[in-house]
Amino acid sequence: MSAVPSSASPLSGTRVVVIGGSSGIGKAVARRAAAAGAQVVVGSRSLDKLEQTAKEIDGITTGVVDVTDEESVRAFFDSLGSLDHLVVCPGDMAVGSVYDVSLDAVHAALNTKVVGQLLSVRYAGRKISDRGSIVLIAGAAGFKSYADMSATAAANAGIGGMGRSLAVELAPVRVNVVVGGMIDTPLWDFLPADARADLFEQTAQSTPVRRVGQPDDVAFSVLHLLRNTFVTGAVVHVDGGGTL
Ligand SMILES: NC(=O)c1ccc[n+]([C@@H]2O[C@H](COP(=O)([O-])OP(=O)(O)OC[C@H]3O[C@@H](n4cnc5c(N)ncnc54)[C@H](OP(=O)(O)O)[C@@H]3O)[C@@H](O)[C@H]2O)c1
Repeated sequence: MSAVPSSASPLSGTRVVVIGGSSGIGKAVARRAAAAGAQVVVGSRSLDKLEQTAKEIDGITTGVVDVTDEESVRAFFDSLGSLDHLVVCPGDMAVGSVYDVSLDAVHAALNTKVVGQLLSVRYAGRKISDRGSIVLIAGAAGFKSYADMSATAAANAGIGGMGRSLAVELAPVRVNVVVGGMIDTPLWDFLPADARADLFEQTAQSTPVRRVGQPDDVAFSVLHLLRNTFVTGAVVHVDGGGTL
């Protein structure tokens, strides 16, 4: 009788690449993966943020990459050997009425969230082991309707569709999408402190679990998806029930 396959695949000794791992959600994923014994490579644009991240998380390596620049993505992955898991986090938001939102903001959201995730998979995909996986990070705006977020919604919904399609195309490599609700990260630093606090408070009150998320809330689900060999094509909402 053949052995029953195990759904749990340990991260210890695996190679995990986290693009956008120098802040917020990605940094929490990098920290948790490293703590689980993975060899973690963190990529992002800013050398300063990468150096700071390397000081905070023992044993990781880092590399500069801009997911909106195909040559940069190609060079980043060319410099790496094989890997087991890829997590892709970068994503700009375009906020504003459809009549006013700047096309630069629209292009930035689509470029980072859709093109950037696709390019990351294009250059990482063939290096990922058959038992490995990919997690793409999306946001709740693609799955719940908010005014003034139409371009951001399109980009986030696009990631959901892309992930499900890639799960079929790249099998047996697994591909999953994690959709975050409002998470307390430096992404919101563009708001003045008072406005940010008000936004978090209002969001907490309208969220079933009565709080906004922390980066670790999302990282916890990402690590589950990296480990569970029977999950692919999933779109997992980590939002405290905010999209209900
Ligand atoms: N925070 C939330 O409320 C929330 C909710 C749902 C979904 N999300 C999504 O989750 C993802 C991560 O968000 P976060 O809150 O963790 O943001 P964050 O704290 O601002 O971190 C973003 C990370 O991505 C990197 N990055 C940005 N643009 C990049 C590019 N073009 N190429 C390579 N790396 C790039 C940043 O580093 P560099 O600046 O050094 O490049 C940083 O490491 C985003 O897609 C965001 O839309 C966030």
